[in-house]
Amino acid sequence: VKRITTHTLQRMKQKGEKIAMLTAYDYSFARLLDEAGIDVLLVGDSASNVMAGHETTLPITLDQMIYHAASVVRGAKRSLVLVDLPFGHYQGNSKEALQSTIRIMKETGAHGIKLEGGEEILESVKRILTAGVPVMGHLGLTPQSIYKFGTYNVRAQEEAEAEKLRRDALLLEEAGCFALVLEKIPAQLATEVSQSLRIPTISIGAGGGCDGQVLVMHDMLGINNEFNPRFLRRYADLYAVVNGAVKQYIKDVRSGDFPNESEQY
Ligand code: KIV
Ligand code: NA
Repeated sequence: VKRITTHTLQRMKQKGEKIAMLTAYDYSFARLLDEAGIDVLLVGDSASNVMAGHETTLPITLDQMIYHAASVVRGAKRSLVLVDLPFGHYQGNSKEALQSTIRIMKETGAHGIKLEGGEEILESVKRILTAGVPVMGHLGLTPQSIYKFGTYNVRAQEEAEAEKLRRDALLLEEAGCFALVLEKIPAQLATEVSQSLRIPTISIGAGGGCDGQVLVMHDMLGINNEFNPRFLRRYADLYAVVNGAVKQYIKDVRSGDFPNESEQY
């Protein structure tokens, strides 16, 4: 199978073909998503929430991200695998950002990284690019800054923040980012930014005018039944499927129905 590259994504934008991306954190699901034909697998720092049970993405460490990413890479034959730089491992200075990136690339076999922010982290983006590592940007609702925002509400609804986002998007493209995630901003602004850039934009809660979409796998599969933002479409109710299966198993064990004659040696 031919691996998707950052150039594939560039050509998809040029041809008007939408990019489908999902998060993944382990080998088994990475394999499932890859074999289903997903274009991009993101080892998101949302692992902090859905894998580790933290309230925010801040606590996850670089070592933990590397463990998840190495597992995902082993399951992905065709998808482009990208890894989030975790909070606290790149904001200090661009040298630290590059060191964290090099650890990810060497220890996981992933194909690129993503980091949050615009002008503030531009020097880091440029430095990582000098090492030949593809960089995806991330603007709008950047969850590592949740304590600055105070809420998970839609960002860039006011003109000053929208204008900064337009400027940051251009700066990231000029610096050499190969794509950009736009999270939870008005669809009109996301469409405008997508049309102004040559590189693809990937939306999460930023509307259909972007060049692709991303969702957190656990949310779109309905593993967690408590998270219900407007932008989320549920493609399965795995909560109900797993809950039903486990309840049946418990019943069968207790009644002695499992194992039966043909399920033993
Ligand atoms: O960590 C994550 O899951 C993300 C995406 C949803 C863009 O950054
Ligand atoms: Na993330």
